[in-house]
Amino acid sequence: MTRLLAALSLLALACGPTPAPKARPERLVAARRAPDLQAMNTDDASARPDPHSLARPDQVRVTHVGLRLRVDPTTRSLGGEALLQLDRVDPRAPLRLDTRGLTIVEVAAAEGDLERGESGAPVLALREAPISWAATTHRLEAEDPQLGRALVIDLPDAATLVRVRYEAAPEASGLQWLEPAQTAGRQHPFLYSQSQAIHGRTWIPCQDSPGARVTYDARVEVPAPLVAVMAAELLDGETPQADGDARVFRFAMPQRVPAYLIALAVGDLARAPLGERTAVWADPAVVAAAAHEFADLERMVAAAEALYGPYAWGRYDLLVLPPAFPFGGMENPRMTFATPTILAGDRSLVSLVAHELAHSWSGNLVTNATWSDLWLNEGFTVYFERRIVEALYGPARAAMEAELGLQDLERELVEDLAERPGDQRLRMDLAGRDPDANFTAVPYEKGALLLTALERAYGREVFDAVLRAWFTAHRFGAVTTADFEAHVTRALRDAPLLPGATAPSLSAWLDGAGLPADAPRSPTSAFAQVDTEVAALLDDARPAAALRTGGWTPHHWLHFLRALPRTVSLDALAQLDDAFHLTQSANAEVLTEWLTIAARRGYAPAMPRLEAFLVEVGRRKFLVPLYRALLTTPEGAARAQAIYARARPGYHAISRETIDALLAGAAEDDPPAPDR
Ligand code: BES
Ligand code: ZN
Repeated sequence: MTRLLAALSLLALACGPTPAPKARPERLVAARRAPDLQAMNTDDASARPDPHSLARPDQVRVTHVGLRLRVDPTTRSLGGEALLQLDRVDPRAPLRLDTRGLTIVEVAAAEGDLERGESGAPVLALREAPISWAATTHRLEAEDPQLGRALVIDLPDAATLVRVRYEAAPEASGLQWLEPAQTAGRQHPFLYSQSQAIHGRTWIPCQDSPGARVTYDARVEVPAPLVAVMAAELLDGETPQADGDARVFRFAMPQRVPAYLIALAVGDLARAPLGERTAVWADPAVVAAAAHEFADLERMVAAAEALYGPYAWGRYDLLVLPPAFPFGGMENPRMTFATPTILAGDRSLVSLVAHELAHSWSGNLVTNATWSDLWLNEGFTVYFERRIVEALYGPARAAMEAELGLQDLERELVEDLAERPGDQRLRMDLAGRDPDANFTAVPYEKGALLLTALERAYGREVFDAVLRAWFTAHRFGAVTTADFEAHVTRALRDAPLLPGATAPSLSAWLDGAGLPADAPRSPTSAFAQVDTEVAALLDDARPAAALRTGGWTPHHWLHFLRALPRTVSLDALAQLDDAFHLTQSANAEVLTEWLTIAARRGYAPAMPRLEAFLVEVGRRKFLVPLYRALLTTPEGAARAQAIYARARPGYHAISRETIDALLAGAAEDDPPAPDR
């Protein structure tokens, strides 16, 4: 039914007037464009393997991408050539690529093959032997507002290579261009990409489906003294080839990855080695603090390997981005991109790194086939993250993090998802919906809880073997929820349940709303002790300074702040602030929890810090509760609008879209949005 609807809406698009191309006119002059007739959508949407991609890798599959890019953060330009190697599954079919906002300058085809580069990796952009290109016809189909425009390229009989010359739009949603003032060093502009879920197509013409993998290589030219990094192997060590005022960086990615894991950043970057195969990259002003924060990285990789098998990607580096980054982290292979808001100074927020590292197995090695199966990436990863945290920092910390995660999920189920039972399922149907707009705790925390439930029913030893077999069976492959059901059912068929345990009902977990009644909890004595202090403050009116908080970690504080009632008095807030300096907290999670309460209650002394934080930090997870809290009072709503007017230009497109909708909803006099 959904497919039928999708097909009908595409048909309507195809029959409607051809939308004016977004591209700048002077660039179009050079483009070879087929007649208008061909701008119609001729493909069969119901046959596409992924509802969020217009490509047909089942007909012609891109197997390798060679990028030759020029990137200038000062002029916000990124463009050049994408060379594609093809597997012509159906020799009569054209090549279909995803694009969004790209200006296509020229398309050519050729016969030929990859070369082996110096490190043995397959290369196309970096190959030495010349290629005889011949122009070929192409057309851009009608624009779908979410998916963009299919670039359809006619292929001569023997063609196995295609070259697309193109430019990205300055406002490409997969790129964020930052002013020098938005970086720690404040001297140089910065660019980074964020391609998950469907933004890769805004800076590379590609088959932008998580089920389609490519190897790639790249030659990236940037103005001196900037540095380019990619989620790939850097071929020239730290001394790039110089070319006048430009610097050239060369990369190869010999492991096959989906397009959403191709990543690039350009800026003033320094590198600090951490271990044999780990290092951190960051603004020179931040790199020492980052190296201190992530000192456990090498041990984390070892702990992950001990659980689920050898790390498959060579190096594991971290890139600390400027604070505008809309996510906490992004698991780009070989180089996780991370927010600087995890630099708490005390390593208390490094579970985020454990999370992105865990994706090296769940997500990058074994990938959700479509975004509807996101829980197979994120739920597995949260479970695995907590196992790594447990191995490094002990079960008490892992249990606190699990409990805080469960609190997030329960709050979201009640406050945001109560009317949307379909979005409470692990097996989602996102066809026709924007994957960014459906970012909830369900695939993360409910997914992790399902794996915890299985672990507790059959025992760790048995269930770890089931997961290891899953990663082995689907290495470098794509998986669906049906694959998971089949694997688990087969693998656990003859496994005995632990004494007193019952088998979790897979269908209740995967297709039911809410949480099954037997969902596992991780009670912690640490939080019971915190609850005692909350009661002392509220019920016995014990002065805040007399609370027994000795030895509390930021996790204890998070639970403490969450346990305060919404009616907490301004006097209690002032006492807490005096005693514990919460408005000055260096821990962004604790600070956000505190500022959320302060915004809701109108606690004036915290307002300057709140404003500074919202202007500096673009991480959506923090922005949403803070703006929502402001919107609960008329004065707060006015403050939110004023702050947003200042902050919005510095936010990433993904955060802008979310906060635009939040504030527009408030302006329409909707009831105040809940907390998360
Ligand atoms: N892969 C995600 C980020 C993502 C998900 C980007 C979906 C676009 C679409 C990343 O691994 C992630 O989950 N990040 C979390 C951190 C985490 C510790 C839960 C984040 O950014 O908050
Ligand atoms: Zn994740």
